[in-house]
Amino acid sequence: MKQLKFNNGDLMPAIGLGTWKSNPGEVGQAVKTAIINGYRHIDCAAVYGNETEIGVALAELFQEGVVKREDLWITSKLWNDSHQSQYVIDALKKTLSDLQLEYLDLYLIHWPVAFKHGVQPQSSEDFLSLEEVPIIETWTKMEEAVKLGLTKHIGVSNFSIKKLKDLLSKATIKPEVNQVELHPFLQQNELVQFAKENQIILTGYSPLGSGDRSVGMKKADEPSLLNNEVIAEVAKANGCTTAQVLIAWQVQRGTAVIPKSTNADRLKQNLESALCRLSEEDIKKINGLDRHYRYVDAKFFDVSGNTYSNVYDE
Ligand SMILES: NC(=O)c1ccc[n+]([C@@H]2O[C@H](COP(=O)([O-])OP(=O)(O)OC[C@H]3O[C@@H](n4cnc5c(N)ncnc54)[C@H](OP(=O)(O)O)[C@@H]3O)[C@@H](O)[C@H]2O)c1
Repeated sequence: MKQLKFNNGDLMPAIGLGTWKSNPGEVGQAVKTAIINGYRHIDCAAVYGNETEIGVALAELFQEGVVKREDLWITSKLWNDSHQSQYVIDALKKTLSDLQLEYLDLYLIHWPVAFKHGVQPQSSEDFLSLEEVPIIETWTKMEEAVKLGLTKHIGVSNFSIKKLKDLLSKATIKPEVNQVELHPFLQQNELVQFAKENQIILTGYSPLGSGDRSVGMKKADEPSLLNNEVIAEVAKANGCTTAQVLIAWQVQRGTAVIPKSTNADRLKQNLESALCRLSEEDIKKINGLDRHYRYVDAKFFDVSGNTYSNVYDE
């Protein structure tokens, strides 16, 4: 399995398991099956509402001697309602308690979007602007979390180049990861180049097109990655599945990738993408599919009267 190296030498497996939309009652078993089959990187978040069940699964795996804590890479994310400085450390401690862990490998600011504490926004009143809660206020507490030993690394998610530049100019500990949507329809080449130049690792989310999002989050005419003709052609030529091609493309590009599955066969299939080797010709064909298409478009934060109509700065 390819690993991505951090400045201090720590290694993060390039393929991890996504857990958004992994339902209660299923997610624990999915994490267990994944780890038993060789996954060593699990992507979590407080807002996914399933960290408690993941914590039970991890505790059982440690107890059964299947894996040791230090052999795993566990990421989690700070939710938008805890950006204010007084809430950051407590939010991380809650995640650690739910996951039954003493430390995370990586903690990310989930979105450059702030809500009032404990609120699920219904109107613009429930948001706080980035002028009211500047990212650097949140980031300073993320830095403190590293010093307290609660997380080994810190980073961000859904940050544009503009927001990364601003944070890099102010941070004491530089963000080491930006987790963003990446796949052949949204290649973000400029961001990939910027991240490379600034020693920021990119992790690609929704790599298979996030087909299990709720109807309300989907557009009627969404293009399909898994059924795309070019991807299918490359898959056939390599004896792989289309999902494996989509995952392998990211790994060969030098980014991490976190496909979600709760199905035992697909979990195994996704990890085995590591065996799918794409040729330069294959990669050229896939690179031709870019259309700057977002499955997760952040429209859910764009409430009339708030300041989040352009989260991605584009
Ligand atoms: N930072 C952020 O803001 C953010 C946003 C979105 C996602 N993420 C992270 O990224 C992870 C992955 O993204 P995602 O969950 O949006 O979507 P995704 O991984 O692109 O797609 C998940 C869907 O693909 C299916 N699937 C998985 N493997 C398959 C295979 N081999 N063949 C066919 N279908 C397959 C899954 O079904 P089954 O489960 O039935 O296999 C599920 O319906 C998330 O779970 C989360 O951890 C982060």
